[in-house]
Amino acid sequence: MQQEQASGAPLRVALLGCGVVGSSVARMLVEHRDDLAARVGRPLELVGIAVRRAGRDRSDLPVDPSLFTTDAAELVTRADVVVEVIGGIEPARSLIESAMKHGASVVSANKALLAEAGPALYAAAAEHGVDLYYEAAVAGAIPILRPIRESLAGDEVRKVIGIVNGTTNYVLDKMDTTGQGFAEAVEQAQALGYAEADPTADVEGFDAAAKAAILASLAFHTRVSGDQVYREGITEVSAADVQAAREMDCVVKLLAICERTDTTGPDGQPTAGVSVRVHPAMIPRSHPLGGVRDAFNAVFVEADAAGQLMFYGKGAGGDPTASAVLGDVVAVARHRVGGGHGPGESAYADLPVLAMGQALTRYHISLDVADRPGVLAQVATAFAQNHVSIETVRQQIVDGDDAGDAGGATRAHLVVVTHSAPDAALAATVEALAELDTVREVTSVMRVEGD
Ligand code: HSE
Repeated sequence: MQQEQASGAPLRVALLGCGVVGSSVARMLVEHRDDLAARVGRPLELVGIAVRRAGRDRSDLPVDPSLFTTDAAELVTRADVVVEVIGGIEPARSLIESAMKHGASVVSANKALLAEAGPALYAAAAEHGVDLYYEAAVAGAIPILRPIRESLAGDEVRKVIGIVNGTTNYVLDKMDTTGQGFAEAVEQAQALGYAEADPTADVEGFDAAAKAAILASLAFHTRVSGDQVYREGITEVSAADVQAAREMDCVVKLLAICERTDTTGPDGQPTAGVSVRVHPAMIPRSHPLGGVRDAFNAVFVEADAAGQLMFYGKGAGGDPTASAVLGDVVAVARHRVGGGHGPGESAYADLPVLAMGQALTRYHISLDVADRPGVLAQVATAFAQNHVSIETVRQQIVDGDDAGDAGGATRAHLVVVTHSAPDAALAATVEALAELDTVREVTSVMRVEGD
């Protein structure tokens, strides 16, 4: 039965890159050969694996050693489907463009490239009549791009909030469960292989920002590039911030937030924009994202008709990422067999990408203040003058000896949570608070997400 369904000339698959993900893709292509052929309707034949260096022992892979080549440029000219898992901008971009020019559909796991050059790659795919799929570029094994691009194409997506970086989630989870500081938690993550020797791309939020750009582009039918994403990493998150979150029954997460905002413009007309940002935020432990532990990823989507949706799973690793890559390979190969194409770029809405200052956020602010008459009024005035509405205030008195103050002067610890306001107004409020004589220290400032 399988033989019958899968008859016909094989579709040629070229693999660019044979690292952790590429090795899993190669292995699964070979080991699942018969099932993949049955699902596609024609066999998939691995015709070459481009690697940077020749001569490395790859006897662990069940592939013919003659398939390895260092000539990626030649390999892409003789394939029906090119799988790009080398990452980075070049040579990946030139190879993908050449593959398309030679008639191959492309499956990529390259978030940096899609975030930087997605529109140009979509244009090349349209020009040459081929597919461009990249499910593995965001949140590894989790099916999230095709659900947004296809399953939710009839709905209006309002908000996408993702934990899309496993390394930072692992670090923040350890800070939460052990009370460790950032540096100690990163060291532990490195020792266990969760964090790279140079963790910059993860801890500074670059990886998550590229993924946020891809998610926002698809969710809002609007071009958003990586450099339009507001980005703050987790290097400044302190044990005190994490403790402050615990006291609110919240947890600190690095969130990629893509949000459509509809407001009324100065002319009274409705106006929409998208806010795309990556930053640490407190989120209630009871929120579905609050329970995402270790290095797991999750994406929470809110759409008008569908309501709230949650996608959860492994965001990295060879086999999990290869699962997403092979799903795309099967999809584009099916198009080759049955005709037609997957969706191209949809940027018709062309919404403006808002500056971070315009994004509506909520803040949690902890302050050490002098315990004197009128201090609370001064603090409240700083909020009022910036048009920021306070949701809750909690005050705790710390007596002078506990506070380490000479003379036993008492002071108060204030925790203020705001209603949502433009981020610029909230930032200005924090600046104004820090300048008050009666404010001894602003001990923690963190954005808050989730209700
Ligand atoms: N470095 C990423 C992470 C995986 O920690 O989730 C690849 O995007």
